[in-house]
Amino acid sequence: MQIKSIIIYYFSGTGNSKNVALWVSNVALKHNIPTQIINITNANRALVEPPASDALIVFASPVHGFNYPPIMLHFIMRFPKGKNNILLMNTRAGMLIGKFITPGLTGIAFYLSSIMLKLKGYSIVGMIPVDLPSNWISVHPGLNERTVKYLHEKNKEKVSSYMEKIIAGKTNFKSVREIIQDILISPIALLYYFIGRFAISKTYYASSDCNGCDICIKSCPVKGIIKLDNRPFWTFNCESCMKCMSNCPKKAIETGHGFVFGVIIFYSLIIGLFYRYFSSFFSIIENETIIFFIKPLVFLIFLGICYCIIHYLMRLRAIERFMVYTSLTKYKFWGRRYKALTEKLD
Ligand SMILES: Cc1cc2nc3c(=O)[nH]c(=O)nc-3n(C[C@H](O)[C@H](O)[C@H](O)COP(=O)(O)O)c2cc1C
Repeated sequence: MQIKSIIIYYFSGTGNSKNVALWVSNVALKHNIPTQIINITNANRALVEPPASDALIVFASPVHGFNYPPIMLHFIMRFPKGKNNILLMNTRAGMLIGKFITPGLTGIAFYLSSIMLKLKGYSIVGMIPVDLPSNWISVHPGLNERTVKYLHEKNKEKVSSYMEKIIAGKTNFKSVREIIQDILISPIALLYYFIGRFAISKTYYASSDCNGCDICIKSCPVKGIIKLDNRPFWTFNCESCMKCMSNCPKKAIETGHGFVFGVIIFYSLIIGLFYRYFSSFFSIIENETIIFFIKPLVFLIFLGICYCIIHYLMRLRAIERFMVYTSLTKYKFWGRRYKALTEKLD
């Protein structure tokens, strides 16, 4: 079927997926196909207009925890029914070893979205992962400029060539080759969705370098940061998209590695003691499934309380410094902030 128009819905924390949206659009414009790029952060996500019936719909978003982030997943879930062709794209954690680009892991992002969209009547014409530089500097040192530039250029070429083929009426399901590893990591994807993301939202804090400009609060795509005690406070709504860390002009936002480590030790000690003296309490709950769900929930509540306490205690200079010096993101060898290279429409 000839493509009459293209609508690209994208979500992006640090710019990779936005670039993919622009690259797709540039190819479409070369073919004189009218294209609309919609940042779902600014769209009315509760009431999406049904797309024109002959438009190709593209979804582009990063992978978070081996899945699309909730903001994109929920957007797809609420997307109106239709019969259009759909192209699913994601950007994931690419790295560079020599001249070899190591791929990220998509997990269930494509499969879950495909099922939802198929049930709404759509046809999937492609699932394209794009291995752009990883922005997850909470878990690994920021990539250097040379790597960022290399991955950017290579992927720009790749996306353009894939898009030419899609416009020519071909499909692209090469990512299905990764299905075994994607299925194997699916339990972790579910754990991340139900527990991990909430825990990770409590790892960010603003150091005393914060000048209260509120850029992080105003630009958070999910309104996950509020002002508490006159400083930014990350709520459980945060999706760890890294926009705040990437945009902070003072580089004041850090990941509290020491804090998390301390909470885990403290929690283990308390649970150990509780178990020792109140083991009869646990024997009341015999159902293994209930215990499986209660344990992480108790940990999340504990983490949330500790986060609130430390937020207020950080008024004390000694505590604030302790938080800062136990954060790997504070150190030069680790803490390079990531922001995608800027692209524009041709
Ligand atoms: C919280 C978080 C979780 C991530 N999880 C994954 C993952 O499961 N697999 C992967 O390949 N990349 C993962 N990444 C890397 C991003 O998907 C990748 O850098 C993406 O290109 C960022 O896109 P953006 O700049 O549009 O936000 C993760 C990044 C973050 C911040």
